[in-house]
Amino acid sequence: MCGIIGYIGSHQAVPILLDGLRKLEYRGYDSAGLAVAGSGGIQILRAAGKLSNLEEKAYGTAMPGMTGIGHTRWATHGAPTEANAHPQVDTAGRLAIVHNGILENYASLRAELRAAGTELTSDTDTELIAQLLGREEGPLLDRVLRILPRLEGQYAVVAISADEPGELVAFRQGPPLVIGVGDGEMLVASDVTALLSRTRRVIFLEHGDVARLSLDQVTVFDGAGRKVERAVETLDWDAARAEKGGYRHFMLKEIHEQPDAVRNTVLAYLDQDRRGVNIEGFGLDPGRLQKIQRVQLVACGTSWHACLVGKFYIERLAQIPVDVDYASEYRYREPLLGEDTLLIGVTQSGETADTLAAMELGKHAGAPLATVCNVRNSSAWRLAEARLLTQAGPEIGVASTKAFTTQLVALLLTALALRKIRGFEDDVDVRLAAQLQRLPLALAKTLETPDQVYHRGVDLLTATTDALYLGRGMLYPIALEGALKLKEISYLHAEGYPGGEMKHGPIALVDDGFPVVAVAPRTPAREKLLGNLREVQTRGAAILAVAEAGAPGFEGLADLILPIPDVDHFLQPVVSVIPLQLLAYYVAVELGLDVDQPRNLAKSVTVE
Ligand code: M6R
Repeated sequence: MCGIIGYIGSHQAVPILLDGLRKLEYRGYDSAGLAVAGSGGIQILRAAGKLSNLEEKAYGTAMPGMTGIGHTRWATHGAPTEANAHPQVDTAGRLAIVHNGILENYASLRAELRAAGTELTSDTDTELIAQLLGREEGPLLDRVLRILPRLEGQYAVVAISADEPGELVAFRQGPPLVIGVGDGEMLVASDVTALLSRTRRVIFLEHGDVARLSLDQVTVFDGAGRKVERAVETLDWDAARAEKGGYRHFMLKEIHEQPDAVRNTVLAYLDQDRRGVNIEGFGLDPGRLQKIQRVQLVACGTSWHACLVGKFYIERLAQIPVDVDYASEYRYREPLLGEDTLLIGVTQSGETADTLAAMELGKHAGAPLATVCNVRNSSAWRLAEARLLTQAGPEIGVASTKAFTTQLVALLLTALALRKIRGFEDDVDVRLAAQLQRLPLALAKTLETPDQVYHRGVDLLTATTDALYLGRGMLYPIALEGALKLKEISYLHAEGYPGGEMKHGPIALVDDGFPVVAVAPRTPAREKLLGNLREVQTRGAAILAVAEAGAPGFEGLADLILPIPDVDHFLQPVVSVIPLQLLAYYVAVELGLDVDQPRNLAKSVTVE
């Protein structure tokens, strides 16, 4: 994901900015750039690809100046080209900005600026902010305060102006920004990793803050320009912890990144006015796809669970039959496969050997070949004809979290695209496009549940060595995923089962205190699941349920509710998995285990 660094002080800015960008590399990016405000105005340097490309350019360019900004960009809107890299400037070239986040009123602002005769030189929403600032007059801070009401969406921005080279202005709504208070210098960054080599004294800006930084002073304002107080804190974090953005583990950080990751994935594949999917974005050939009779999904592990949900999505929305196979089994069952079958390999890493082999098989059989993948230019990416990139950013924790939820969203978008290709004419895609745009808020709300709620669940799970996870319909795969998360990082044995299947065997396991975790949001089948839960309760089970707070039917039945907001049925799998990720996480922490690198597991399984 994108990274920001800004510097103002008594040293040359460029080497300090480059050092900061190096520290932000772990977030993942595909272009980078920097800008310096000096006596001659603003100088900009940008490069697509690795940071070394930018460094190479920087070594060959004189860029004197002690105020500057830098950025690593992970492309979501607009290709990862030099023109789309940050910093972006206004037409006059008198100010430059770097930006993390996404403007939701991108389309209307762009149209407005174009109608006013502004020539835009990039596909980014970031340039629109620079242009809006450029149209205002007066000091940079005043300009920022004037344009704030025009910006809808999520942003963390740092701006410099050639007319005030002794200042940086930083403002945020959503993505984080932290100021580093140095000795005769100030820094600002998207996370503390980039500051630690120069200072440990920091100010965390709050949602809605606007800060003006000079060499020796930081003043923070609210959006109305009133001064607000923000405390200077002294960090005692070591560098490794800082890389986790303040979280104790990568897994926890990645769980908390899900609202952003999902938002980025949704927005990348909606059309300009965000009222439906953008089929062209998939790179699929509609003519060829119109002929398909079947969809075949292949994957491993967590990605396979995403496929099980994807089967519901595609069958219900596009009315095409779907088969789901473990990639490791697929090629050995001599599958019936040809041009009428769309084969989609779903893989976070794009390097899983079994999934690649299953995709190769599809290719040789002449099947149209697609991938849902999180890594651009990976092997799966290169093998497929059609690609849908999940915008989860690098996932470091071995236990997959944000890659899974973005896969679910990507498969829902795929289902909507296929629906469109099949010629369904109604407002289902408009309705779901609107719901998908609200999904990040529902995820953020789910993440607000206090840790103490999970600690009660931890007590129930750590009192035993086995657990049963139950769900029905498209929530059954979520029960499987919840059980896998627990197994992977806590080494407790857990099984996922469809609720109705439970009394055909697993109920034999249940006795006093045996934990049963139910994935039970509001669905037409919830009554049936409640019936399954009553059956295990009478045998002594301790019941934990993922459900809306205060949902009827759980009083006197569930020992603990892990609350989620009430969302559209198609989005329940995405929201319901969050409490199960957190539950597994807290259990593993309680057991003192290596959450990010559990024993015997690798992040990417590149052998059969
Ligand atoms: O990179 P992939 O999505 O192809 O990986 C597939 C599985 O190896 C992966 O999902 C694995 O199950 C994770 N450890 C799950 O947390």
